[in-house]
Amino acid sequence: MVLLSVSNLKKYFPLQKSFIERVISRRKQYVKAVDGISFIIREGEVFSLVGESGCGKTTTGRLIVRLETPDSGKIVFDGKDITFAKEKELRPLRRKMQIIFQDPYASLNPRMTIGDAIAEPLIIHGIADKREAREKALEMLVNVGLTPPELFYKAYPHQLSGGQRQRVVIARAMILKPKFIVADEPVSMIDVSLRASILKLLMKFKKDFNLTMLFITHDLAVARLISDVVAVMYLGKIVEIAPVDELVENPLHPYTKALLSSVPTIVPQMKREKIILKGDVPNPINPPSGCRLHPRCPLAIERCSKEEPKLKYVGNNHYVACHLL
Ligand SMILES: Nc1ncnc2c1ncn2[C@@H]1O[C@H](COP(=O)(O)OP(=O)(O)OP(=O)(O)O)[C@@H](O)[C@H]1O
Ligand SMILES: [Mg+2]
Repeated sequence: MVLLSVSNLKKYFPLQKSFIERVISRRKQYVKAVDGISFIIREGEVFSLVGESGCGKTTTGRLIVRLETPDSGKIVFDGKDITFAKEKELRPLRRKMQIIFQDPYASLNPRMTIGDAIAEPLIIHGIADKREAREKALEMLVNVGLTPPELFYKAYPHQLSGGQRQRVVIARAMILKPKFIVADEPVSMIDVSLRASILKLLMKFKKDFNLTMLFITHDLAVARLISDVVAVMYLGKIVEIAPVDELVENPLHPYTKALLSSVPTIVPQMKREKIILKGDVPNPINPPSGCRLHPRCPLAIERCSKEEPKLKYVGNNHYVACHLL
């Protein structure tokens, strides 16, 4: 069953101009952060969004949990169109969808104990009274591996390591038993040695709670560990979507091939040619015409600069947006 469906979603941010720039040109400019993306996430699935910095991953995640309002397009979650839902309509949904941010240091109130931080959502949503909330928070501390729970309950964020804090953030999100979680680079700021254990924790919740997840990462090797399906993003567009093994073994988009070529743990298994892209990611204010990758793509043909490729189905639940196919 489809839990989330996103179609042709767009979000442009107006560019802040200096006074002089405004005098010279009155034309408003926009950062095309998310520029018409479509995908579905099935219940119980981990769907990863992978791409370089600035390609629009976080914006996509924030749009889906409606921390941001889209410019256009459609978001249907659990059978309900939430694209432009008002805050009041979103309240009951907030219980079902949670977001975990990249920075476990910024996500916790420094003056609140760990236990109270985990219990708080239960009280805010009127699900439990103070005593029940405390008990549930203690249980959740055990669940995320922070034992003895009584000790951690009384601790403050500054007394914990980055990895422990991220466990608290996960506990706080999971205490509401959400159906769906957006995890935005949840391990990128954590010590490398602790990353696997945090991913394992997320996978445990996936299994025990039948959790559905949008997992955001710039790292294909991480996505490979945790995902069922991977979507590759480039400059506000999705260029390829496929089940994770299919994507790694049979990447079709030159950009996906380039990303894979730069992952040392995946490279030795690659039977195909390596692709190295020219230059840097262009500016999302004036993205290239046609296929946004064309100025950097070693395989580009004339059509690529003129016509934008659409996502096409190529079999095996695999979609690609490239004129060369
Ligand atoms: N609130 C905002 N106002 C203006 N521009 C924004 C805003 N949020 C994001 N952007 C811009 O939109 C583009 C996409 O940003 P986004 O944070 O979604 O990328 P990302 O893929 O998550 O990058 P990273 O890997 O660095 O986290 C960037 O160019 C960014 O500067
Ligand atoms: Mg981001």
